Amino acid sequence: FYRNFQVSKEETEGRLVYELGNRQWNIPKLRELLEQITDQNTRVDNFEVGHDFPHLGPRTMLLNARRFETRPGQPMIFLSIDDVTGQRKQLEALKRQAALLEMTHETVIVRDLKGIAYFWNRGAEEMYGWGKEEVLGKSVPELLQTKFPKSFAQVKEELLRTGHWEGELVHVRRDGEKRIVNSRWALQKENEGDPVLLEINNDITERKQSEENLRKLSGYLMRVQDEERRRIARELHDSTGQKLVAAKLNLETIAKDGRNKVSAKGSLSQTIKLVDEVTRDIRTVAQLLHPPLLDEAGLISATRWLVDGFSERSKIQVDLALPPDIGRLPENVEIALFRVIQESLNNVHRHSGAKKAAIELKRNAQHVSLQISDNGKGLSSVLSHTGQTKAFGVGILGMKERLAQLGGSLDVTFSKKGTVVKAVVPTE
Ligand SMILES: Nc1ncnc2c1ncn2[C@@H]1O[C@H](COP(=O)(O)OP(=O)(O)O)[C@@H](O)[C@H]1O
Ligand SMILES: [Mg+2]
Repeated sequence: FYRNFQVSKEETEGRLVYELGNRQWNIPKLRELLEQITDQNTRVDNFEVGHDFPHLGPRTMLLNARRFETRPGQPMIFLSIDDVTGQRKQLEALKRQAALLEMTHETVIVRDLKGIAYFWNRGAEEMYGWGKEEVLGKSVPELLQTKFPKSFAQVKEELLRTGHWEGELVHVRRDGEKRIVNSRWALQKENEGDPVLLEINNDITERKQSEENLRKLSGYLMRVQDEERRRIARELHDSTGQKLVAAKLNLETIAKDGRNKVSAKGSLSQTIKLVDEVTRDIRTVAQLLHPPLLDEAGLISATRWLVDGFSERSKIQVDLALPPDIGRLPENVEIALFRVIQESLNNVHRHSGAKKAAIELKRNAQHVSLQISDNGKGLSSVLSHTGQTKAFGVGILGMKERLAQLGGSLDVTFSKKGTVVKAVVPTE
């Protein structure tokens, strides 16, 4: 007491508690308590008093008091004062930290090396679907069916050696869905007892998924490019090249044998036919590469041209609702929308089994919207069971990516009545 409260024995003994020092113990609450004890024979257990002492500053004390009598009629009070200021501060800090961990949407788990859970925050509840009371005391890796990138023995070895570990885990949620998480572990060695570890998990399933999609997409783009080059090369070599060789032979014959008018006339008309064909071939190839109508006459005319060819080949009737007064759009927007129509019509032809399709284009001050619908079977039942987003092939992903780059978006809705592709692009 002397040391803690910086008073001497001489200043203290035989004096009223309330008068000690510079009357620092003249605390109304204490006075009230002590008076109660003498008068009513009560006792005080772990009573917390906060007081701002002149020299010591604010302290928190735990008071315990008992009444006893050394001689009958002479009640005394045994008073013990515990300065718990430091402990209280620690507890407050811990409580604040726990509240923070509770608030974060990251998954925070405290568990021992065997996996037994001691702490499971709200983020963990949200992510895995298991409540605290269901998890605490149970094995986390068992509950989440954790899959490690390497053996747990290796993970544990690294953890014990360096104090931490980081890697990707696969967890299974309560509803059975698999999630990929980036997991960070920090080992906390307790003075007594087994070490525990703090595990913080971040759901990166979506990121992984889009990385995978991007890989698929770029692979697809390369394949498409190769295929297109091969097709053009074959077209030029097998067909156009052969026709030009034939035309040249004809011309040589005419040059050598110029006086034979009858045979020259035959060769000439044959040559003209060949040159016509070559011209047509080259136009087709050029159109495959890039529809020239798109640059010259704009999206509407190019769409009409595309749809005519499509209906003829596929025997699918396509209704067009294209406003004549739409005007020209920026070049990259026109190309993107044209490719969306092209890919969507290909999908209608390849996947839908539809008899009819419709294309609708609209423009207002802010954006252009395009809709391609068909009356086909929609997404086949096998695919819809595995979840729509995962069923997207690279065609749909490619269109999405293309429009996203223009600040727009693309949505595909499959239903029993057919499929609707909706694209929106801002014109600003
Ligand atoms: N109009 C449609 N009708 C029915 N199913 C479609 C239609 N469009 C797309 N699909 C389905 O969506 C899948 C993904 O399409 P897409 O991304 O273009 O890839 P791909 O055409 O290469 O398969 C298709 O495989 C098909 O199952
Ligand atoms: Mg496709």
